[in-house]
Formats: sequence, structure tokens, C-alpha cells
Amino acid sequence: MSRTVLVTGGTSGIGRAVAARFAADQAEVFITGRHPDTVEQAAKELGVHGVACDATDPVRVAALADRFPTLDVLVNAAGGLPPSAPGAAVPELAAVLAEWQANLEQNLLSAVLTTTALRARLAAGSSIISIGSIGAERRGGSYGAAKAALAAWNASLSSELGPQGITSNVIAAGYVTGTNFFQGQLADDRHRALVEETHNKRPGTVEDIAETVRFLASLGARHITGQTLHVNGGAFTTR
Ligand SMILES: NC(=O)c1ccc[n+]([C@@H]2O[C@H](COP(=O)([O-])OP(=O)(O)OC[C@H]3O[C@@H](n4cnc5c(N)ncnc54)[C@H](OP(=O)(O)O)[C@@H]3O)[C@@H](O)[C@H]2O)c1
Repeated sequence: MSRTVLVTGGTSGIGRAVAARFAADQAEVFITGRHPDTVEQAAKELGVHGVACDATDPVRVAALADRFPTLDVLVNAAGGLPPSAPGAAVPELAAVLAEWQANLEQNLLSAVLTTTALRARLAAGSSIISIGSIGAERRGGSYGAAKAALAAWNASLSSELGPQGITSNVIAAGYVTGTNFFQGQLADDRHRALVEETHNKRPGTVEDIAETVRFLASLGARHITGQTLHVNGGAFTTR
């Protein structure tokens, strides 16, 4: 029987590659994004279902959840860097608050709201995979702090859902090309520095992450839960 898969932020980059991966496996795949036009276009190109939904909007997220009597795989890929306000040497506290709130909404609360809305509909043996970041480990600022909180939340979520046979994991991605994450603003020297940090001297690809998502949602990964799995070519190592 084909599995039902929801990928938030499935219109571009990592989420889009994840949706394509599951579609190739004949799953029934749904993608979301904030903009109806890009959702419709991406869904058509991928041959999947598209639903416009801002993952930070509780009303829209509740309506999204109502579409699913049951769900087998939830991939929280929506996230990224909110537009930043013009920098000042000493930013106004109001600007600091706005930046932190935007990052927490975009990279933590998006996953918390979507998962909360859908958790009662997750079938036994289902999987939740949320896309975290290497930025949680170092130099991540408000974005990294939000991704670190995502990993902390994942640990408690795993303990709550584990008794029902549901796994919950975070993939902490390193630098990945083929996305809109840097909004076309990544300088060549920054790209070279990020590649140089890796042990295999290459950036990550969206397929690297999509294949890891696929593994975490597979039968072979049923005893892996509550974890943050680092996929970064060795740019950050664990022990
Ligand atoms: N690329 C990297 O190097 C990298 C590294 C570590 C972690 N990550 C993480 O990987 C995830 C995917 O990002 P990406 O690199 O693939 O960037 P991307 O190409 O910009 O994709 C982001 C996706 O999320 C959607 N999105 C953003 N905010 C949303 C919201 N509030 N509600 C619903 N959809 C939303 C975007 O569509 P709309 O804008 O149309 O809504 C788009 O489909 C993010 O969580 C990001 O933090 C990326």
C-alpha cells in the first residue's frame, strides 16, 4: 500500500528533492509553501499534490491537517532565513526582538505547529523528520538558536510518540547547494570557505538530504528516534 507523505516547504531546495524522492517510490506526496503560484507549479512539475499553507499560521496549519485522515511520513522542511532588517552597529531592541521572533517562527514553531496539528493522525510505524542545521552547533545566531531548539523539542517529541511506534528525528544539514536558502547572496569566497570546512571537499546536495530522509522513514531505521543526524561532509563532527 502506498504511503502518504507531507513535506512542508516542498516547493524548492531540500523539501522539493524530498518530495521527488518519495514520489519516485510511488508514495502519495503532498507539498506546501506559502505562495499558491509556486506551490501549484512545483506540484505540477513533481506530479504531487500541492497545498498553499504558511506553517507559522495556526489557522492554515489546522486546515491543512484536516486534509489527512492518516499520515505515514511528515517532513518539516519549511524554514530558512527571514529577511533581515538593515544592520546598525547597536541594533534597537525592537529590531532584535523582531529578528529572534521571526527566526523562531520560521525554524521552530513551523515544525511544532505542523506536527502538533497532525500527531493524532500519524499511523503506527510512521516517521517525523525535521530539517535542522549545522548552524545550531556554531555561529548560528538567532537562526542557529532556533534550530538548536528544534533538536531539543525533537527529543521530547520522540519520547511522547515512541510508545506508538512513531519515530522522530532531526537531520542537521551542513551547507547544501541547489536551494534558495541564501537568496542568491552567497559570495564565492564564502562558498569556498564552506566547502573547505568539509572533509570530502564538496558542498552537500539536496539529494544527500533527501536520501537521508528516505532512510529515516524506512523499515531499516525503526530503532532510530530522538536523534539529530548530522549530514555535512565532516564540517562538524560528533563522537
Ligand atoms: N541550504 C542549506 O545550506 C541549508 C543548511 C541547513 C539547513 N537548511 C534548512 O533546510 C530547510 C529547507 O531549506 P532550503 O535550503 O531547501 O531552502 P529553500 O530552497 O529556500 O526552501 C525553503 C522552502 O520552505 C518554504 N517555506 C519557507 N517558509 C515557510 C513557511 N513559513 N511555511 C511554509 N513553507 C515555507 C519555501 O517556500 P515559500 O518561500 O514559497 O514559502 C520553500 O519551499 C530549511 O529548514 C533550512 O533552514 C538549509
